[in-house]
Amino acid sequence: MKIGNFEVGEYAVKESGGKRHLIFDCRNCVYSSSLTDDKACRYHVINILSQVEADLVVLAEVYERVFNKRQTKLLKEISELIPKFELENIWGVKNLGTEGSECEKFFGLRHDLLVKVSHELIGYDPILAYISLLSEIKTEKEKMQNEAYAACSKEYMNILLYLQTAFEETTLITEAKKILVKLEQMPDTKQLYYSFFEAQVKPSFIGSRLMFEKEESLELLDEYAVKKSSVQIFKHPNKLEKLYFLNPPEYTLPPEKYFVLSKTKEIVATYRPGRTSLSAIAKSRKYFERVYESTIVDISKQNSIDLSKEEVKELSEIVARYTVGYGILEILLGDRNLTDIYLDSPIGQRPLYVVHSDYGQCQTNILYTEDEAESMVSKLRAMSGRPFDEAHPVLDFDLQDLETRTAVIGKPLAPDGTAFAFRLHKMTPWTLAQFIDNKFITPLGAGLLSFFIDTQSTMLVTGSRGSGKTSLLGALVLEILQNTRIICQEDTLEIPVSYMKEIGFNIQRLKTRAPIGTAKNETEVSPQDALRTALRLGDSALVLGEVRSVEARVLYEAMRVGAAGNIVLGTIHGDSAYSVWDRVVNDLDVPSTSFKATDVVVVARPIRFGGSLERHRRLVQITEIKKEWITDPLHEGGLLDLMLFDASKDKLELMEDNLKESSLFDKINKTSGLSMTAMWDSIRMNSNSKSFMVELKNKLEFPELLEAENTVPATNKLMLLKQEQLEENGSVDYSDVLGKWKFWYKNEFVKRLLARRKKK
Ligand SMILES: Nc1ncnc2c1ncn2[C@@H]1O[C@H](COP(=O)(O)OP(=O)(O)OP(=O)(O)O)[C@@H](O)[C@H]1O
Ligand SMILES: [Mg+2]
Repeated sequence: MKIGNFEVGEYAVKESGGKRHLIFDCRNCVYSSSLTDDKACRYHVINILSQVEADLVVLAEVYERVFNKRQTKLLKEISELIPKFELENIWGVKNLGTEGSECEKFFGLRHDLLVKVSHELIGYDPILAYISLLSEIKTEKEKMQNEAYAACSKEYMNILLYLQTAFEETTLITEAKKILVKLEQMPDTKQLYYSFFEAQVKPSFIGSRLMFEKEESLELLDEYAVKKSSVQIFKHPNKLEKLYFLNPPEYTLPPEKYFVLSKTKEIVATYRPGRTSLSAIAKSRKYFERVYESTIVDISKQNSIDLSKEEVKELSEIVARYTVGYGILEILLGDRNLTDIYLDSPIGQRPLYVVHSDYGQCQTNILYTEDEAESMVSKLRAMSGRPFDEAHPVLDFDLQDLETRTAVIGKPLAPDGTAFAFRLHKMTPWTLAQFIDNKFITPLGAGLLSFFIDTQSTMLVTGSRGSGKTSLLGALVLEILQNTRIICQEDTLEIPVSYMKEIGFNIQRLKTRAPIGTAKNETEVSPQDALRTALRLGDSALVLGEVRSVEARVLYEAMRVGAAGNIVLGTIHGDSAYSVWDRVVNDLDVPSTSFKATDVVVVARPIRFGGSLERHRRLVQITEIKKEWITDPLHEGGLLDLMLFDASKDKLELMEDNLKESSLFDKINKTSGLSMTAMWDSIRMNSNSKSFMVELKNKLEFPELLEAENTVPATNKLMLLKQEQLEENGSVDYSDVLGKWKFWYKNEFVKRLLARRKKK
């Protein structure tokens, strides 16, 4: 095909995701597939755009460069000017000046300039066309100081000004003008095109597009690798959130590898597993990778492409990612620095968002597509065996192989279509020592909570969404003595039970039906039935992932009559001790006085210090529920704060005056015989032992020290030393026990771990 003077590649318009894509096949084009660097390419695109309707422009070569709606509109507006100017006969004689022999000597140059600006240059370099126009206007105005010249120029000046207005009505020129006025020198227009036409790039067989902004003003904050992809975190001068840029190898492979990859993908697309169960996929993954490896070897041999063993393996992993895997999301799910991934509807309009444990909410450079979302939904539907349609617009599901909980919502609940939220669980449970280390809790607060568990109290952890309730619950479970049986009831499996079993806990898990989004004929047991069963399983500590509906009544009834075993722990949505009472009594229908079966409410909250944009999770309240009130605990002094957070000091403070009024400590005194002094000695011993672990971890730069596999045996030892003294002397000298424990911890335990680390 010939357009202007150029032989050019084919193009086609395809509709996808409700948008019209104008796709240029650049493989056989003699020009480079770049709107910014190649003016011939620009000319071609602008010309075709004046003839077809399109929302997006795609330049397809080895990779596809996609120009979004806004960028396409910039070009489209310019492209519409070309036929318009032609129709208006801009360079016709009537526009060249006043007719008459004197004036006609200027016509030649004027004609050439008008043709250049309104017909030729406008297609190759519209910004330069505009700049040339402005400079012509300027020179003409100067020349028109001369009266004789001015008499020849009225029509010409009018048409120049007309063109100026027409150019300035386009968005591209309006935007370019803003930049031009700031510049002192005439710029190379290429730089301007760079700022407008940064393309999103993607390999043709992958849906997701990546945006690579090369803005100099971005400040690199961090850089690391995840599954052979690089991750960069940037600070943008004008954005509140940080930028999270993912650069997976499949987006930048050299052409020959890319060729092998696309061919393999084509071939293996046929033997893709259908409704295979999740665990089968996880297991078969390795199997598929091996199959792909042999296909890759075949293809590379046939095409004389040399690939090393590692390269074959790398390519087969990529193919697996886009066939049996979760696509580009899989890389994100592999970044365990992330806590959440959000894909809002309508998909493809905004980039994907993530929450990073160090940098908070970040905007990514990934644009997911509807097609990918659909295939993700069918995968989730197949794996969960649950429905997802207009009658069941919520699908809650655990991706166990990825330690991730997903929630998908669809129409009509999400009117703009499917949206996803992924919560990445920490691979190992949080420990109180880690919470001390990251300032979530003070050592004394940790000691106090541990003491309440040791004395078999009933505790509820509350907080807003994502405040860290479940994480704190997990850390509290680790404080339960290992000679206690634990029953853990959850609807989404978040407490790392198998890990806890591995490190010696005696823990039984019950999985209950999720409260929303599931079909009526679901075989899972309802939370209230599961709880009744749990209560019958005998004397155990009871851990409830989340108390959220009718099971609350069963729970409180059991606690009230003392049938709920010794320790009861759970989480519940709320923001203070009072709101927990309100929720339990008014929403969940538990009689007000039954609420007294709760001993302690712990509140977690994200704090924005001094109104800062960053949020820091903090434990803000440890409140005792007293037993002498009747209808409203708040007004009748039934809520006694034992520790309260002071944001100005960033410290959880002990409310010493309140302690005297505590009935919980009285109760513990009656059941254990411990004096008040002994209780506080015990709390301080525990809290000091935890601080000691944190100090050593920081001194030795040895984060593993604070992992449960190491904190639990260390706490066990402390308990054993205490028990030894109790048996020998009938009483405990807490500071002596702590001294002995510290010696053991530093000189035996940590030494042994260090030696092991060296070997690795
Ligand atoms: N103290 C903390 N410091 C840093 N990250 C934390 C802390 N506590 C929790 N997180 C992380 O925050 C995320 C949310 O935590 P978690 O699931 O415990 O919150 P939640 O309050 O139970 O949320 P939900 O309301 O959804 O149940 C998790 O990824 C967790 O690892
Ligand atoms: Mg939770």
